Amino acid sequence: MRGLFSSRLGFILAAAGSAVGLGNIWGFPTQVASNGGAAFVLVYLVMTALLAYPVLVAEMLIGRYAEANPVDAYFKVSGGKPWGRVAGYWGMLTASLILSFYAIVGGWMMAYLAKYLVTIPGWNTVSTWLGSASVGRNLIFCLGFLALTATIVCGGVSQGIERWSKRLMPLLIVIIVLLIIYVATLNGAGEGWRVYWIPDFSLVFKADLIISAMGQSFFSLSLGVGTMLVYGSYISKRENLLNLGVWVVFVDVGVAILSGLLIVPAIYVAQASGIDIYQESGQLISGDGLIFTVLPALFANMGGLAIIVPIAFFALMVIAALTSSISMLEVPVSYSVEKKGLKRSLAAVSICGVIFLISSLIIFNFERMFSFMISLTTEYSQPLLGLLICIFVGWIWSRDQQLSEIKQGNPQVEDSLFWRIWPVYVKYICPLLVIMAFVHSFI
Ligand code: TRP
Repeated sequence: MRGLFSSRLGFILAAAGSAVGLGNIWGFPTQVASNGGAAFVLVYLVMTALLAYPVLVAEMLIGRYAEANPVDAYFKVSGGKPWGRVAGYWGMLTASLILSFYAIVGGWMMAYLAKYLVTIPGWNTVSTWLGSASVGRNLIFCLGFLALTATIVCGGVSQGIERWSKRLMPLLIVIIVLLIIYVATLNGAGEGWRVYWIPDFSLVFKADLIISAMGQSFFSLSLGVGTMLVYGSYISKRENLLNLGVWVVFVDVGVAILSGLLIVPAIYVAQASGIDIYQESGQLISGDGLIFTVLPALFANMGGLAIIVPIAFFALMVIAALTSSISMLEVPVSYSVEKKGLKRSLAAVSICGVIFLISSLIIFNFERMFSFMISLTTEYSQPLLGLLICIFVGWIWSRDQQLSEIKQGNPQVEDSLFWRIWPVYVKYICPLLVIMAFVHSFI
């Protein structure tokens, strides 16, 4: 028996949990800050509506139609052609490789959470070690993060993924809102709010900005690699996929914008308290310097709240990362359970074991491999897989089957504006946009 999400809310929170991750809380605000403020937000919204949402619907539709893991799903959609499976294998591999670096970063977040927790009993040596970027610490916490991910996935769809998403996602929203309110009261926050909201329109039509926004929106909605396909395969046939997709986008974009309201003002608060927020190149600090240098320096100035605020912040990061990592792991796990007949727990643990080996390789060769793995998977593999989804849905999969699938839970769809536009759109416009972005990134 395949699992199913037990409720509409459960699916929305799980899929939004997949979408909302480090990409929202860390990636989005720093892209906004370094790409013309609200101009980036604007382009991001347009890209999400025009490109990401149609692809999200396509991916969920394939999943729910096939009621299967990505390999079988693409096979089925291609009309039973063996080459159909390739897209599934490729997606599975990409999802696993994304998890291999995501777990390293998730591990950093856990280590920092622990670092602030152990200052409560005053374990200062441990705390210093937890804040050191040592290979040992990175290995241990990466493994810890993967173990948590595997534990949740072992529980299955409704008892693991859905249950934990329902607990963690509301908590995430509460923490983020409380932190925004607190940071807004600090000296310097106003400047951050200003930078965030005032668009620099001269940048709106710059190709680089449009491409960054496109990449960000693809990554943020977890598209291409099969996560949304697998989650889609656990949706009941009674549900209206188009509405579910809108909800997922809505929560994802909402949390991204909220994160900007937290991180961007926090950067300027740090500046107001004398912390350097620019890199040598003159750009606003982003990357790990922001999260592990600027923000901790800011926390240290918070007096009575110097422990609780960072604990809340890193808990937020761990939660966001975890609800995303479970969705990545579910891709190969669903395949191993359905195709290879493995027990779910065995599949989750052994796949995490292999992923940990890859993560370890990255940790030992950090300089050479970390950013390479990120660009290989998110800048190359993921957009190409997105293109494949458009090709499958636009050119290969029969239109009648698509319509009858999309009609389930949405009987009037045939006469809607959506059905008049979307098929043509996925067939021509989306692939063209992706190809343009791809070509641009080479020149
Ligand atoms: N969307 C998540 C984030 O914003 C990351 C993520 C989860 C992801 N599953 C994915 C990215 C699959 C690419 C593919 O952090």
